[in-house]
Amino acid sequence: MTRSANETSHEEAPMADETLIERAARVRVNAHAPYSKFKVGCAIRSVEGNVFVGCNVENVAYPEGTCAEAGAIAAMIAAGDTRIAEVAVIADSPTPVPPCGGCRQKLAEFAEGDVAVTMATTGGLSERTQVAALLPGQFTAAHMSK
Ligand code: THU
Repeated sequence: MTRSANETSHEEAPMADETLIERAARVRVNAHAPYSKFKVGCAIRSVEGNVFVGCNVENVAYPEGTCAEAGAIAAMIAAGDTRIAEVAVIADSPTPVPPCGGCRQKLAEFAEGDVAVTMATTGGLSERTQVAALLPGQFTAAHMSK
């Protein structure tokens, strides 16, 4: 799809052969995290085949901050893609950081079936899991039908 010249996009131009975790690492440096000093980057590949990135954006009114995953999901939905195929999250932590509880619910909204989540540290450790495994017993639309 061609975008008009003045349309902004939250997709980042990929570098040759860049992995999803490399995309997450590249956006992580842009995080606004002056309060926690904990920068997080997230990259999502959509089922439609595009990659969207997000970083955490904190606020002096602490609860108003947003997670990296929420940013990447918002970018995907704003661009018109609808389903998550794969997720990568990276932080400068001693062990790979799993998405927080709220982000697990947000990811599950757009993840159907086997959706891999790679969690990595800037030091080179990584672990893989699945969105469904991160949110057992999840609340779904089926719970609202009588
Ligand atoms: N954070 C994320 O962006 N994603 C996660 O999965 C875990 C936590 C952010 C929120 C906050 O800005 C900082 O990390 C410390 O909790």
